[in-house]
Amino acid sequence: MSLKIALMPGDGVGTEVIAEARKVVDALGLDVEWTELDWGADRWHRTGSMVADDWEETLRSHDACMLGACGHPSVPDHISLWEMILPIRQRLDLWANLRPVRLLPGVPTPLAGRSAKDIDMLFVRENSEGEYSGIGGRAHRGHPGEVGIETSVFTRAGVERVVRYAFEQASARSGRLTSATKSNASRYGYVLWDEVVEETSSEFPTVEVERVLVDALAARMVRNPGSLDVVVASNLFGDILTDIAAAIQGGMGTAASANIAPGSDTPGLFEPVHGSAPDIMGQGIANPVGAIWSTVLMLEHLGQPEASARLAAALDEVCAQGPRTADVGGDAGTVEVGDAIAARVAAG
Ligand code: NAI
Ligand code: MG
Repeated sequence: MSLKIALMPGDGVGTEVIAEARKVVDALGLDVEWTELDWGADRWHRTGSMVADDWEETLRSHDACMLGACGHPSVPDHISLWEMILPIRQRLDLWANLRPVRLLPGVPTPLAGRSAKDIDMLFVRENSEGEYSGIGGRAHRGHPGEVGIETSVFTRAGVERVVRYAFEQASARSGRLTSATKSNASRYGYVLWDEVVEETSSEFPTVEVERVLVDALAARMVRNPGSLDVVVASNLFGDILTDIAAAIQGGMGTAASANIAPGSDTPGLFEPVHGSAPDIMGQGIANPVGAIWSTVLMLEHLGQPEASARLAAALDEVCAQGPRTADVGGDAGTVEVGDAIAARVAAG
């Protein structure tokens, strides 16, 4: 049976890196049926909408979805995000965002004296509520007394499911879990979060859990990344911490993610962590590693462990031996790196 994959290259470098992700999957020789969707800023200019009206039905009729990135300088960012990626995550209820962080062989880290053995973490980001719930409003626009209110929403059910999932991941890895909150300054949502972590810990006696304030955790990721393994965080904190994580694993171009709804048959959405990178778009120099690593996660999620492992091994090999893009110390272009990984996959 063929795998039906919806492809949303999106905007900017999203289109460039997704082309390579598709290429390496095709090189694996799997039976894949691709549906390429022209959703993004161009469509918004043409039709007034980033996505098709029947977007939810379209995505749900696939086994998995891949996104490059959405966002273009010609469209306000709050429109491009709120018309595409955020409704997709919310309406499909893709409540867990997995972001593995690993220093790949051959990729330089800006942290002096650190190597691959020090940087290997898994971030579990709450992906459906928190600070990205979209609750709020503005009054007295343009007036000196104007107000903007943004409300964070934390539900017991929403926190419980992601925290439990993070405990499960921790027990399958090193048995260490770190929960990031800011429950000294924020007295409600994060205190609820801390209580849920405490309660859930009794179900996982073999997992050692620690509660860390997010500001201290940001510093610790830079000073002592080896002390962290699985980290669970709210939507906003997970977003911010994983940009730090991307930086220490070699740069935005290397970071991968999976948006999933564990325990359901909802198609997952797989995407590099980076955005559309308008500063380098159209130059053919974007790093495709984050997008290709996201396809490794996709294949694993689709029940293709062998294909996933083959692609992961090819990715590691090409990172170690080159070619590499400029952001990770090489001089190759996006296509050259994609071609090299595809060739390794086909040879292996
Ligand atoms: P960005 O991630 O696009 O870029 C940040 C920096 O990382 C830039 O210097 C860029 O050149 C570099 N970079 C990103 N991807 C790279 C790659 N593959 N290879 C090499 N270098 C890479 O974040 P920024 O500039 O804040 O946002 C640009 C646009 O993307 C905005 O419209 C934003 O809203 C959108 N965005 C969309 C996301 C999504 O679709 N999930 C996520 C993040 C941002
Ligand atoms: Mg982000």
